Amino acid sequence: MGVLDTLGRPLRDLRISVTDRCNFRCVYCMPKEVFGRDYRFLPRRELLTFEEIERVARVFAGLGVHKLRITGGEPLLRRDLDVLVRQLAALGDLDLTLTTNGALLAQKARALADAGLTRVTVSLDSLDDEVFRVMNDVDFPVARVLAGIDAAAAAGLPVKVNVVVKRGLNEGSVVDIARRFRGTGHVVRFIEYMDVGHSNGWRMDDVVPAEEIVRTIGAEFPLEPVDPSYRGEVAQRYRYADGEGEIGVIASVTQPFCGDCTRARLSADGKLYTCLFAVRGHDLRAVLRSGATDEELDGAIRAVWERRTDRYSELRTEETSRRRKVEMSYIGG
Ligand code: GTP
Ligand code: 5AD
Ligand code: SF4
Ligand code: SF4
Repeated sequence: MGVLDTLGRPLRDLRISVTDRCNFRCVYCMPKEVFGRDYRFLPRRELLTFEEIERVARVFAGLGVHKLRITGGEPLLRRDLDVLVRQLAALGDLDLTLTTNGALLAQKARALADAGLTRVTVSLDSLDDEVFRVMNDVDFPVARVLAGIDAAAAAGLPVKVNVVVKRGLNEGSVVDIARRFRGTGHVVRFIEYMDVGHSNGWRMDDVVPAEEIVRTIGAEFPLEPVDPSYRGEVAQRYRYADGEGEIGVIASVTQPFCGDCTRARLSADGKLYTCLFAVRGHDLRAVLRSGATDEELDGAIRAVWERRTDRYSELRTEETSRRRKVEMSYIGG
């Protein structure tokens, strides 16, 4: 049976972080000054096991969740991730997807597809190798991510490409990326740089508004708006007038979409967050490890969701953007 929060929003999506570690140090997410040598990542014993994740996901599915997204950090750093994918795929008719930086995708795409992953979303901020290396800040070449995207497509996985646009850094890459993926069937989404976490030094001046991105691409390749494909879709969709496919823009800063937000997030150590910008989570791992029954777990999740009031992006101010919010690499994208 489904559950509604205080604003009448159902619980439809669960995003599961399987590790807080990443092999990239994207400047907008894990800046090296904060996530350098001395950063204390979660020790292994703190992480939920695959069995625990599967159990939580099953209970969430019973509450109305129909989309599971595996995230991180970088989820492909978690050993044997395909085993978890197989366990989650067995839960039934769910949209089961994964957000990855693509670095390890060329090696792993086939096993993930065979395990039952439905599709994949790859982050890619520039096609210009120099810009890409600056943004991931570990000198990782763009060609290997492109090879990962090709491997995913070859394995039969539908692909989305996520591009975070930061003013003065990769706005010049927007049209290049649109051109590259036009006609491939891969859907590119351009994302406004957000004030998630506490460490990326976000400033409003660094945000390139989605409306500007649409205008820039539209000047080169005429675009027409398309209706959302489901209620609460995060991306606004546009199609190329010449039929070469579609793009999306995610305007979480300039046009917040909290009104329809149906997403819950589970951190790698089993805390439940009801907003990307939350300061605190609810400890489901403690509930799991206390020997709770499925009914008790269901009750605990239901109680959290029924009290939910979050709508951070609609209330954002200079003050809220400076709060000590949890990091996106911990809670998942
Ligand atoms: P599809 O299932 O493919 O439609 O993906 P999605 O719309 O759930 O988007 P995805 O998971 O690829 O998220 C893309 C980006 O949108 C994230 O990395 C965030 O930057 C942003 N985003 C996603 N969900 C939220 C949210 O609940 N709140 C805010 N503020 N931003 C979000
Ligand atoms: N703003 C917007 N999106 C972000 N991501 C990480 N940090 C930010 C940010 N500051 C998202 C990107 C990336 C995913 C893993 O997390 O979409 O693709
Ligand atoms: Fe970049 Fe994703 Fe890693 Fe963050 S988690 S540093 S966005 S690759
Ligand atoms: Fe949902 Fe919070 Fe994002 Fe608003 S800011 S859309 S409530 S996750």
